[in-house]
Amino acid sequence: MNTLLELITIEMKNAFQAAGYDEAFAKVTLSNRPDLCEYQCNGAMAAAKTYKKAPIMIANDVVAGLKDCACFEMAEAVNPGFINLKVEPSFAASYLNEMAADPDLGVEKEAEPKMVMIDYGGPNVAKPLHVGHLRSAIIGESLKRIFRFKGNHVTGDIHLGDWGYQMGLIITELKKRKPELPYFDEAFEGDYPEEAPFTISELEEIYPTASAYAKEHKEYREEALKATFMLQNGHRGYRAIWNHIMNVSVTDLKKNYHNLNVDFDLWKGEADAQKYIPDMVERLKNEGYAHYDEGALVVDVQEEDDKKEVPPCMILKSDGAALYDTTDLATLVEREELYKPDEIIYVVDKRQELHFVQVFRCAKKTGIVRPDVKLEFLGFGTMNGKDGKPFKTREGGVMRLENLIREIDEEMYKKIMDNRTVTEEEALNTAKIVGLAAIKYGDLSNQASKDYVFDVDRFTSFEGNTGPYILYTIVRIKSILNKYQENGGKLVGLSVKSAENDCEKALMLEAAKFNDVIDAVYEETAPHKLCAYIYDLANAFNKFYHETKILTEEEEVRKAGYIALLKLVKEILETCIDLLGFEAPERM
Ligand code: ARG
Repeated sequence: MNTLLELITIEMKNAFQAAGYDEAFAKVTLSNRPDLCEYQCNGAMAAAKTYKKAPIMIANDVVAGLKDCACFEMAEAVNPGFINLKVEPSFAASYLNEMAADPDLGVEKEAEPKMVMIDYGGPNVAKPLHVGHLRSAIIGESLKRIFRFKGNHVTGDIHLGDWGYQMGLIITELKKRKPELPYFDEAFEGDYPEEAPFTISELEEIYPTASAYAKEHKEYREEALKATFMLQNGHRGYRAIWNHIMNVSVTDLKKNYHNLNVDFDLWKGEADAQKYIPDMVERLKNEGYAHYDEGALVVDVQEEDDKKEVPPCMILKSDGAALYDTTDLATLVEREELYKPDEIIYVVDKRQELHFVQVFRCAKKTGIVRPDVKLEFLGFGTMNGKDGKPFKTREGGVMRLENLIREIDEEMYKKIMDNRTVTEEEALNTAKIVGLAAIKYGDLSNQASKDYVFDVDRFTSFEGNTGPYILYTIVRIKSILNKYQENGGKLVGLSVKSAENDCEKALMLEAAKFNDVIDAVYEETAPHKLCAYIYDLANAFNKFYHETKILTEEEEVRKAGYIALLKLVKEILETCIDLLGFEAPERM
């Protein structure tokens, strides 16, 4: 169905045409003077030049033709030539009823669904998840849901960092600690035992220990580099260790992402791309795209109108080793071969932007991806602490994701126990649900590309522009609907009625914006706009709630109309938070 703004625009176009003016001038926007009107059209001002007429005359002509329009309660020309509009309450009510009857609440699906891949998460195997990985997971998950809601085929790929130097470090450290293991022998051939020679907590301790030791000890470092090289060149025993590391680590990652309500369709990684590298390199050489520069194999990606220098894409180091660029290019070869995406969105720290500029240019220039594939880099900013520096633990160390989540949950638990009389078990459960909303909303309500301050006190507050406030609003609506049912009311067959006062109408118009907002959020890949919308909608509801006797309304038809409106508002809010990747509890 059309959005309300589209319907209003159609009416205005007709009116411009009927009055003898080009319909292109009939652009309608939300009012920037809500005290005067709900929508406005400034087209008469723009048309004045073309028709050599005073704008107010044009506005008057247009407004004269709107007298019988069912859509407007008010259409007024005001000096110097604005057209102020208010929507007819019955028109708004029937619009909302149409929305409520649509399973997608008025959101149109893509006419031609796209195959979209989203590359997000990007954790590094065997290293603990830290808060830097949080943003990618949260933003990527939300985009995945939004793109799906619009009817596209979306594949989320975690793209594990599973092929680097950290693997060589772990192998080297294991060899030092457990030389009796069979894997270090180059001739290792047998099956390796099912049981991994380490637990996840050991693994998480082994990596940082080895990494720190390697920084101080050159020989150890060289051994780790050699082990990395041998792993990458088919050492069977090392490959067996690699398999163990992957099993143990991926099990743990799955648990962590599950707790974040984040899930991936593909658990592929850098390692999966390696087999595409030799052919790719051969082709780049043979077709003349790649050349040697100081021993390294590179592809130039500088373009004519670049203001800054864009260094070449690095294909192979002078020692023949593959690099981050190589792996991302080979991953594109793989994605083209297996999935044929129309679009790939990379949700990665914005400090990696140059890398992606190089990779995208190289992939396009060399035909690794088809010319019409859209490659998009969605770079996010840093999550800072209150001191404005990257978020750290109180002791100044790297904050592990698990600990951050625990901290937030504890804070929420305290608040829930303080305010209400619920069982400990319920409070713990609710704290988890609300805590996750606090984190995700706190993150997503900021424009992705910007740095932001992760403020635990603010994010966990039940008041203001926060996740808990949104959930609290939903829970409040649920409780009204439940009471209505307990008193014998039914939630089916209801319809929204024309608003009789300002706060009711404001709530209705806010609800009616839903599909328009979704389209903007989708087209601009901007989940923060969805947060801004639900905050406005929650505020409009709460104002209505405080000014209206809902359940004690005596006229049954009006009461049923209120309930129909609240039911729709709840569905909109629930759909939105689902698109943001969190949910509401039953009570809080
Ligand atoms: N593992 C990388 C990191 O932690 C992020 C991977 C991003 N995705 C990609 N296709 N390069 O920095």
